[in-house]
Amino acid sequence: MKQKPAVSVIGMGYVGLCTAAAFASRGIRTIGIDIDEGRVEQIRRGKAPLHEPQLGTMLKHAVKKKLLDASSDISVATNTNTSFLTVGTPSQPDGSIDLSYIKNATEDLGNALSDKRGYHLVVVKSTVVPGTTNGTVKRFLEQSSRKTIGSELGLCANPEFLKEGTAIDDALHPDKIVIGSNDKRSASELTKLYRRFYGAKLPPLILTSPEAAELVKYASNAFLATKVSFINTIANIAEQIPGVDVGTIAEAIGLDPRIGPLFLKAGPGYGGSCFHKDLQALINYSQNKNYDPVLFRATEETNEQQASRVVGLAEKLLGSLSSKRVAVLGLSFKKDTDDIREAASIRVINHLKKKGAQVIAYDPMAIPNTKKKLLDQIDYAENAHSALKGADCAIIMTEWEQIRKLKAKDFQAYMKTPNIVDARRIYNPAEFSGLNYVSIGLGPSTGMR
Ligand code: UDX
Ligand code: UDX
Repeated sequence: MKQKPAVSVIGMGYVGLCTAAAFASRGIRTIGIDIDEGRVEQIRRGKAPLHEPQLGTMLKHAVKKKLLDASSDISVATNTNTSFLTVGTPSQPDGSIDLSYIKNATEDLGNALSDKRGYHLVVVKSTVVPGTTNGTVKRFLEQSSRKTIGSELGLCANPEFLKEGTAIDDALHPDKIVIGSNDKRSASELTKLYRRFYGAKLPPLILTSPEAAELVKYASNAFLATKVSFINTIANIAEQIPGVDVGTIAEAIGLDPRIGPLFLKAGPGYGGSCFHKDLQALINYSQNKNYDPVLFRATEETNEQQASRVVGLAEKLLGSLSSKRVAVLGLSFKKDTDDIREAASIRVINHLKKKGAQVIAYDPMAIPNTKKKLLDQIDYAENAHSALKGADCAIIMTEWEQIRKLKAKDFQAYMKTPNIVDARRIYNPAEFSGLNYVSIGLGPSTGMR
């Protein structure tokens, strides 16, 4: 890179890398920083270290055009005007947020910035509980840089709302930008950068305090997770009523603009790296402020129970699961990703194992990650057909296209007995009428979907 990069992104995980690739794709010179040298080398070669649609092509292009570079040396951030912090914020064993990566990265950045001349803006993009930007981050940054926020340093909270599988698209076309800061210059510098990025298509901008910006991210994830637990609750009620399918209920209520049609797909419960972690952090944060958010505890409990309900449906078909061969189709927390973090499939498999079932699993992408977690506790199949071979029951856990396209005759031909639990509601029950087919949210003798 001959010219100085304009922005640095610290933490080349899923969020940081997609953010960096998006900046570079709009001609903004960007440098990605990570402590993991292997990852840095891969990025420098234009190779994506994680699976995300469009990311590979964008990285290759950006590196070739010298708009994106990467380094493990955080001092390169001083050559840029703005640094985004995108390191991970995992859970501690009690559910509270673990800020150790944020603290380390902030301290390292501050040390590097102590020698810099001129203004530098630091932007917290990682999900952090309210008060973190203006508390921990500000303190660590000021101490290590020996500078003051508001004069030589700027500080903003600027949460992201990227979804795995559509992260690049989400970064290029967000429905809003939320900027939290306590001083005018920080907010206006970041707004300027986003104006340059989005041009005439600047999304609605919400300018607020750092604490409010931080809470927006938690409120957003808590609302979405609660919407999923809500429809799963309705699904569990619908299952008890002859002739009722939760899909019809979701379709009808979704037409009410106050409710909206999205996030009303009943299933085995939400997974992924964010919902559970962020709800636990929010619950823990609130309880420390002497408020118990009963609603969010119920959202989480409903989600946890949903996995045992899936296994309950298998028991309804088979009776005891002891020594039964159960094919689990789909492992990733949603389709088109190899990510199994907090996936419902893992909860379901754990219940199945406890009940003495013999599990064989298939997933088009997530088997390597599952092997790392479950080792040889279960068997793995190369394709759906071989998973189904000789099985007493099949449980559909992820809505992959490869699984969706299976026909009733595939189950009939390969399984010992065609018992099917459709936890993702991907098949038309009418087409499975000759088989033992049950589904989340489907009342007895409902032949249509
Ligand atoms: C992001 C957010 O930042 C997190 O707060 C949000 O809740 C979810 O999305 P994610 O991109 O998934 O996290 O993080 P992760 O995949 O854990 O990657 C973090 C990266 O930061 C890793 O590559 C790690 O090597 C790097 N890192 C970590 C640093 O470069 N420096 C550190 O001090 C710590
Ligand atoms: C989520 C948020 O959507 C995103 O804004 C935030 O930045 C990170 O967390 P992600 O975890 O990638 O994104 O996945 P998402 O598409 O939101 O799905 C989460 C889980 O909910 C998946 O397991 C999915 O299968 C489940 N889900 C979603 C349902 O069960 N039903 C639905 O109707 C929608």
